[in-house]
Amino acid sequence: MSIAEVSEASDLIDFLVNKGNGVKGLSQMGLEIVPQKFIQPHEERLDFTQILSSESIPIIDFSNFDDPKVAESICDAAENWGFFQIVNHGIPIEVLENVIEAGHKFFELSVEERRKYLKENSPTPTVQLKTSFSPLAEKVLEWKDYLFHIYDCDDDESSNLWPAVSKDQVLEYMKWAKPIIVKLLEVLLEKLNVKKIDESMKSVVMGTLIVNLIHYPMCPSPELTAGAGRHADVSSITMLLQDDVGGLYVRDPKGDGWIHVPPVKGALVINIGDVLQIMSNDRYKSVEHRVIVNASRNRVSVPIFVNPAPDAVFGPLTQVLQNGEKPLYKHVVYSDYFNYFFSKGHEGKQTIEFAKL
Ligand code: OGA
Ligand code: NI
Repeated sequence: MSIAEVSEASDLIDFLVNKGNGVKGLSQMGLEIVPQKFIQPHEERLDFTQILSSESIPIIDFSNFDDPKVAESICDAAENWGFFQIVNHGIPIEVLENVIEAGHKFFELSVEERRKYLKENSPTPTVQLKTSFSPLAEKVLEWKDYLFHIYDCDDDESSNLWPAVSKDQVLEYMKWAKPIIVKLLEVLLEKLNVKKIDESMKSVVMGTLIVNLIHYPMCPSPELTAGAGRHADVSSITMLLQDDVGGLYVRDPKGDGWIHVPPVKGALVINIGDVLQIMSNDRYKSVEHRVIVNASRNRVSVPIFVNPAPDAVFGPLTQVLQNGEKPLYKHVVYSDYFNYFFSKGHEGKQTIEFAKL
């Protein structure tokens, strides 16, 4: 397929989605001009005057995790910023580097190899190759591809069918990441008067772990496109590992500006998702964020979305409302919330309206 042909919108979707080339396939053609379908309207482009270069999200040191001050900083950051980075969390640097490398390796495979993991071909529903965010629903496509995994646990046999170039690295990373996720949730929930995460609470706050290897190919016009448009996550929390390219921007909690999340070697970015914002009745903030891609380097990031189980029902916690506070949200089934999120393009904080009273 030629460059001229992929510019036709219908052929473009076929090339990207059905044939499994993804944005990687497009980027590889050495385009000098981005197809119209990826061009963001003016109001969705990040204007550099909106970047607050003197602001930064908190960095929290996990080396003395048992010090109550650490728990306090986590809850403060969740309330005031919705985003923070953690360092000295104990995951060996090689484990982090290997999973980033695995993200590159998978997307360096030929399209024939990558295509084996399209939804309709994949040997297991727990791994799927995807492109953009919701390519059949959104008006403008996002400049990214990703390999989506549902992580059950270490001995889930379906992971044997994951791609050989990345499977072990993803599983190793998840083994280290999971206890940190549990610690973060314990601290965040304790502050909401949930003393212990029992089985039913567990299915609400961490019933499903999704881990993605996201690949943002280099792009001839990063200023016209979005790697990820403005959105808030629909997780309870998200733990994101990013490489050293940069490009993640977070909404300034005090205004309209955007704050860059600088790559910090060995750090993990944590953010609150809509589920915890709703459960905490707005005490914790699920903050808007976006990704700008790079003109000369492919970027890899590895988010873990810590989500409720599909059939879990969530809403403001009774422990939060016990002082007479009015609930701001109704109770909803997570799969309904999740499906609503994917039924449209990324639209900032709009998803949470689905649960508003
Ligand atoms: C996401 C996201 C940020 C990044 O996938 O929801 O916000 O830096 N990713 O890749
Ligand atoms: Ni996100």
